Amino acid sequence: MSPDRRGPLVVAHRGASAAKAEHTLAAYELALAEGADGLECDVRLTRDGHLVCVHDRRVDRVSSGTGVVSEMTLRTLGELDYGTDGEPAELLTLSQLIELTLDWTSRRTKLFIETKHPVRYGGLVESKVLAELARYGLGAPASADHSRAVVMSFAASAVWRIRRSAPLLPTVLLGDASRYLGGGAAATTVGATAVGPSIKTLREHPEIVDKAAAAGRATYCWTVDEPADVSLCKELGVGWVATNHPGRTKRLLGG
Ligand code: G3P
Ligand code: CA
Repeated sequence: MSPDRRGPLVVAHRGASAAKAEHTLAAYELALAEGADGLECDVRLTRDGHLVCVHDRRVDRVSSGTGVVSEMTLRTLGELDYGTDGEPAELLTLSQLIELTLDWTSRRTKLFIETKHPVRYGGLVESKVLAELARYGLGAPASADHSRAVVMSFAASAVWRIRRSAPLLPTVLLGDASRYLGGGAAATTVGATAVGPSIKTLREHPEIVDKAAAAGRATYCWTVDEPADVSLCKELGVGWVATNHPGRTKRLLGG
């Protein structure tokens, strides 16, 4: 996860989610076609222990159904429609997204997996993610730079658990400025490979990037949709920008 001197690499946030329904195959296929360097997804556990790509605790906003993801089975969740604008779409599992990423052989696209609900299912989510990565030979990379997968969380405990179980797997500790500045910066204590501020936090505290770099950490910034913010991230030396507009962002960066 070394910072790239040519400018930030572009991560498609929930896929090309400004154009297609978030976390759907269509959103990720478009992101890959638009040249995204990475794909971001949120993962949650179903009642029967499967990892699915859904952001919210409930499916109401993104599907034709209602209910809490962790209280529903994969089968029930799979019966819902996740499309928008009359374009139907199926639920995506983490396994299907890993396969899509690996199928895209022309580039070494990275998968940025964010674990959700770390409190109630803390530990279980991370161990399932690691098991899934291991199933595809991605669990123990030779180095962070060579890894095809990155695991992220707002929960320092989740990042710490990943570091302990898979020391070379890159991680991003998401959060606000208090995480990265000041004496007890949590990015240091849990050993995250990268810091993950929002663009709002970075506008207010641009020194986060240099401070992280001095400690050997890249910066991953989200969600960078405005052209002025893309330019700011480039100027500051941000390594990765997560955006809902991967194609436009690649063009803005000259890629
Ligand atoms: O990429 C990190 C970002 O996705 C965190 O926020 O709420 O969109 O998951 P959220
Ligand atoms: Ca996310």
